[in-house]
Amino acid sequence: PVIYVVTPTYPRPTQIPELVRLAQTLMTVPNLFWIVAEDAPILNPRVASYLDGTGICHAYLAAPMPESYRGELKTPRGVSNRRAGMDWIRKHVTEGVMYFADDDNTYHLDVFEEMRWTKKVSMWPVGLVTHLGVSSPVVIDGRVIGFYDGWIEGRKFPVDMAGFAVGIPFFLSKVDAEMPYRAGFEEDGFLRSLEISVDDVEPKADNCTKIYVWHTRTQKATPAPKIATNITHFTDSNLSAL
Ligand code: UGA
Ligand code: MN
Repeated sequence: PVIYVVTPTYPRPTQIPELVRLAQTLMTVPNLFWIVAEDAPILNPRVASYLDGTGICHAYLAAPMPESYRGELKTPRGVSNRRAGMDWIRKHVTEGVMYFADDDNTYHLDVFEEMRWTKKVSMWPVGLVTHLGVSSPVVIDGRVIGFYDGWIEGRKFPVDMAGFAVGIPFFLSKVDAEMPYRAGFEEDGFLRSLEISVDDVEPKADNCTKIYVWHTRTQKATPAPKIATNITHFTDSNLSAL
């Protein structure tokens, strides 16, 4: 089966380096299609040409977050992007597996082979999530019986976005499946909309004993104007160049 990786991305100084790191992982994975969905009204030609150069089969979509959410204290990051990716899959695909891969996480190649034979929904641990350091399904005798996560908050599926994949035929059978614009509850809302029970979850990564993906986060790049105000030893000509 082909893995359809849906990656939300957005314009900022670290965007291209994030995409380079992720692309150099994905280009080694066979039978993979990359759907890159950007939180912007128009496509960035530099991103487009970078993606073309990777040789990875891909689609590059513009998927701006609705303006009404942008002002919120906690914005639902990456939701418009993932929704656009799902719309694209609904339109173009009948087989395979869907995986939401944020542009800043770290992916071991084995995670892709673990998810490849997903029937409904498969899950595995994600490292570096909350103060507990890992978020994972709890597995007994090969069945998922609950979840270990530092932020339960009434969620039926307290898991990270990087910790599950969905079989596309199953996804397509759930015509009302959707990801909510609700910060912190995107995964839970989406998984509930698939109408699965905890018992349906297919545990991967050696019954969830191995970590193959980490929720790493990239430090924000310092904007150039700030550097100028913090540095005092430039010559006048250097300063005027800034
Ligand atoms: C983490 C937590 O999981 C969030 O609950 C929390 O709100 C956030 O940190 C925070 O406190 O800042 P994380 O998932 O790591 O969120 O956030 P990002 O990696 O910044 O965004 C997730 C995905 O959405 C990424 O692929 C990113 O490229 C994309 N994104 C982010 C957008 O498309 N638009 C944005 O404005 C921000
Ligand atoms: Mn992130």
